[in-house]
Amino acid sequence: MSNQTILPSMKLDGRTAVVTGAGSGIGKAIAIAVAEAGADCVPCERTDRLGDLDEVCDAIRATGRKAFPTALDLPDVASIDAMVDGVKRKAGRIDVLVNNAGINLPNDAFDVTEEEWDAVLDVNLKGLFFTSQRVGRLMRDQQSGRVINIASQNGVVGYYKRAAYCSSKGGVVNLTRVLALEWASHSITVNAVGPTFILTPLTQSTFDDPQLREDIESRIPLGRVGQPEDVVGAVVFLASPAAGMITGHTLLVDGGWTTM
Ligand SMILES: NC(=O)c1ccc[n+]([C@@H]2O[C@H](COP(=O)([O-])OP(=O)(O)OC[C@H]3O[C@@H](n4cnc5c(N)ncnc54)[C@H](O)[C@@H]3O)[C@@H](O)[C@H]2O)c1
Repeated sequence: MSNQTILPSMKLDGRTAVVTGAGSGIGKAIAIAVAEAGADCVPCERTDRLGDLDEVCDAIRATGRKAFPTALDLPDVASIDAMVDGVKRKAGRIDVLVNNAGINLPNDAFDVTEEEWDAVLDVNLKGLFFTSQRVGRLMRDQQSGRVINIASQNGVVGYYKRAAYCSSKGGVVNLTRVLALEWASHSITVNAVGPTFILTPLTQSTFDDPQLREDIESRIPLGRVGQPEDVVGAVVFLASPAAGMITGHTLLVDGGWTTM
């Protein structure tokens, strides 16, 4: 009887993971979860919110892993370059990139302003692309890497007041396919995770409206909105050796919303 096991590891031991938008909500949970899975973590946050990383860094260090809090102001490409240079200096490499930072400015399609449209697309799509490009070049030099884009179920279905947001997330879902295709020959996988409505500061105002909350819950067959903890398993899995043959995929964490 051989001692060899068949299940590939779902751990991230020895890796360095960059997580954008890590001071709040889903990104905060992901930053802590990748550390729990064994990775050193680079939680990134806007310069004016860097203090939000204190709690995250404490939680990362409590797992025994290193934390390298870093400023990142999307979609400023100079800021992205500075982040990558800083990580190269401090950690030497980037094995996992989680593009999580994002915003939503809900408005009826008839009323969306040019400023609102640009703001949402700038962070959610342009910022995500150039972060992927700059980190992707480093992963090309390494000939390995995992990119995980936090898209949304709203990248594959529509919802009210989300013309700009759904457009940005639909863009992320298809950009994920392009990068997966172009970077496969460098052993870089690129996948997305598409959460349903998750209770975070981003969605607080939506859930403050009882009618809207009822509508949203009625569309989730599992009968509840998600918590940040509901998203982290999908991210860690896609970053782990167990997902080595998966690329270009969007893994929906939607409680069944898109089954209907
Ligand atoms: N909450 C949900 O229901 C939900 C559902 C599906 C997808 N998502 C996606 O998950 C991601 C995280 O959302 P969340 O709910 O945790 O929101 P959140 O508002 O709690 O966190 C968003 C984070 O992104 C950062 N960020 C925003 N603009 C930035 C910028 N210009 N540069 C750098 N960082 C910036 C914020 O500072 C914050 O840390 C987003 O991409 C969001 O679209 C959220």
